[in-house]
Amino acid sequence: MCGIVGYIGKSEIKDILVDGLRELEYRGYDSAGIAVLQQDEIKSYKAVGKLINLEEKTKDFASEGFGLGIGHTRWATHGKPTELNAHPHLGEFSYVVHNGIIENYQELKAMLQSEGVTFLSQTDTEVIVHLFEKNYKALNDPMAAFEKTVETLEGAYAVLLITKVDPDKIYFAKHGSPMIVGNDDNGDIHFGSSDAALIGKATEVIYLDDGDYGYTSVEGINILHNRKPKALNKKALIGDKISAQKGGFRFFMEKEIYEQSEVLGDTLIGRVLDDKIQFDELDENFFDGIEEIKICACGTSYNSGLACSYIFERQAKIKATVEVASEFRYKEPLLTKNTLFVVISQSGETADTLEALKMAKAAGLKTLAICNVDNSSIVRIADRTILARAGIEKGVASTKAFATQVMAMWMLTIYVAQIRKTMTPQEIKVELNAMRHIPTTVVVTDKLHEKMKRLSKRYLHGHGFFFIGRDMFYPLALEGALKLKEISYLHAEGYPAGEMKHGPIALADSELFTVALMPKTLHFDKIKSNVEELAARDATILAISPERIELTDDYVHTYHSDHPMSEFFEMMVVTQLLALEVSIRLGNDVDMPRNLAKSVTVE
Ligand code: G6P
Repeated sequence: MCGIVGYIGKSEIKDILVDGLRELEYRGYDSAGIAVLQQDEIKSYKAVGKLINLEEKTKDFASEGFGLGIGHTRWATHGKPTELNAHPHLGEFSYVVHNGIIENYQELKAMLQSEGVTFLSQTDTEVIVHLFEKNYKALNDPMAAFEKTVETLEGAYAVLLITKVDPDKIYFAKHGSPMIVGNDDNGDIHFGSSDAALIGKATEVIYLDDGDYGYTSVEGINILHNRKPKALNKKALIGDKISAQKGGFRFFMEKEIYEQSEVLGDTLIGRVLDDKIQFDELDENFFDGIEEIKICACGTSYNSGLACSYIFERQAKIKATVEVASEFRYKEPLLTKNTLFVVISQSGETADTLEALKMAKAAGLKTLAICNVDNSSIVRIADRTILARAGIEKGVASTKAFATQVMAMWMLTIYVAQIRKTMTPQEIKVELNAMRHIPTTVVVTDKLHEKMKRLSKRYLHGHGFFFIGRDMFYPLALEGALKLKEISYLHAEGYPAGEMKHGPIALADSELFTVALMPKTLHFDKIKSNVEELAARDATILAISPERIELTDDYVHTYHSDHPMSEFFEMMVVTQLLALEVSIRLGNDVDMPRNLAKSVTVE
C-alpha cells in the first residue's frame, strides 16, 4: 500500500520528506521517490527497493531556503516495481504522486496519446500529470486546470501535484484514499497519507474528506468541495507513532481484519469485468496442454489452496491436488508436464514453498505464483504471477492475505472455466456478481464485533477446540483453528465434519468446544446431522450459520447466504474475530505470538 508525504517551508526539504516516508514504511513498499521544487527548478529522485537506496541517490542533494516537495512510497499493483513506475510522475513542468487507482485511466491515456503525449510508465497515475498540463495549456490557470483534472478522474485517489507554473503551492485532492494536511508552529505545511508521517512535525491537522481538493501555500490551506470553499476543521495532532500506524485499532491483526473489505476490492479491480475475468498477467495459451494443477504452499496459504482446489475441480473441471510444501519436497513426487504447478505465498520467501517451486521448474512444469509481494523470490522464479494485492500484512496471524489469496484463486478458477468453456456465460455472470459483493460481505459491523467480544469470554478454557466444516468449509475450519491456536495458544484442530465420528467424537464432553461452520448453500443438512451427533454427547457448540440452530450452546448469525463464497468469506471474518478476542482476553501479544515468524525462510 502506497504512502504520500508533502512539505512547504524553509527547512531542508529532502530530510523532511524522507523522514516522513520512513514513518510510512510499515505500509510496505517496493520503490520510493521525491520531487523538490525551489524557485522554478524541480529536482526528482527515485529508487527501487528500500528507502536507503533513495537516500544514497540523494546524498549530494540538499535544499536551502524556502521550497516545497512531495514524496511517495509505492507498492506495485499496476506495473512492475521499477524506477520508471515509481512516483513522482512527471509531465513537462509538473510532478504528481498518487495513492489509489484511477479506473478510467485507459481511456484517458488513449485520449492523451492520440494528442501526442508520450507516457513513460505503465502506471495509471501518469495520466493525472498529463491531463493537468493539457488543461493548464487550455485554461492558463493552474487551479482551474487542477479542478478540471480532478473532475475527470474516476476511481480512488489521494493526489499531490506541484508545478513550475505555480511554484509556491502544492495542489491536493482526496477521493477514497486518505490524505491529511497540517501545519506546524512556524506555519510550515505538511501532508501525509497517514497520521504516522505527521506526528512530531505538524501540530494541527485537517483530515480531508472525499471530494475535497484545493491548494496550499505558506499563506494558508484552501479547500474546495463541489467548487465551493470549505471551512477548515483543524484538530490538534497528538499520539504516538505506533498507535497512529495501527489507525486506532488495538492490534495490526485487528486493523487487517477490518481492511479486508478494501483490499478485496483491490484484488478485483481491473480483473472482474462485466462478463468475464481478465488477467493482464496471463494469456489464454498459458493453459494449453494443462490437464492437472498441483497447488503447493505452507500454513495459511496452504489452507487457501485447499479451499480453492474444491472449486477448481468443480468449476474449471481440472484435477486439482494440494500439498504442504515441506512434504512435497521430500516425497520424490511424480511430476508430469501436463501439470500446472501453482504456489501460494503471502511473503514470496517461504523456504519450503520456494524450493518446491524450483523443483517443479527443474522438472519442466509451467509455474504460477499467487503472491502478495512483487519482486519476491517466488515471483522472480515463477513463470507467471497473480498479485494478491493485500498490501503489507504485519500481524503474524495472516488474515487479509488469506482472503485475497482465496479471491485470486477463485478468479483464476473462473478464468480457466471461461477458456475451457466448462461454465455457461450465465453461470459465469453469477460468479462475477458474487465476487463483486464480497467486499460488502466482509465488512465488520459493530454488532458482530461486540457479539464476538462477548462470546470470547466463554471460550478461554476447556480441553480443546474442533472447527468443523464440509467441502470448502473444511479448509476454512482448518484456517479458523490455525488462527485460534497461533494467537491464543489453545489447542485447536480443523476437521471434516463427517469425519468426527471416526475418532475425535470420543473426546466429546462439555469441555470440548466445537465451532461448526454451517453454510446454507453447501450440505447444510449433512453438517446439521454432524452437529446433532456432537450435541447428543454434550459437546459445547458454537454454530455459525444463516439458519437459526436451536440445539447448540452459542450461535452467530450470518447474513450473506446467496452464494457459497459469500458464506465462506463472511464466516472467515467470524472465525478471525473469535481468535482475536480470545487472544486479547488471555492477554497475549496478538501481533507477535510466541514461537512464530511472519516469514519462514528456513526449512
Ligand atoms: C509462516 C507464517 C504463516 C504463513 C506461512 C506461509 O508460518 O507464520 O502465517 O501462513 O509462514 O507463509 P507465506 O508467506 O508463504 O504465505
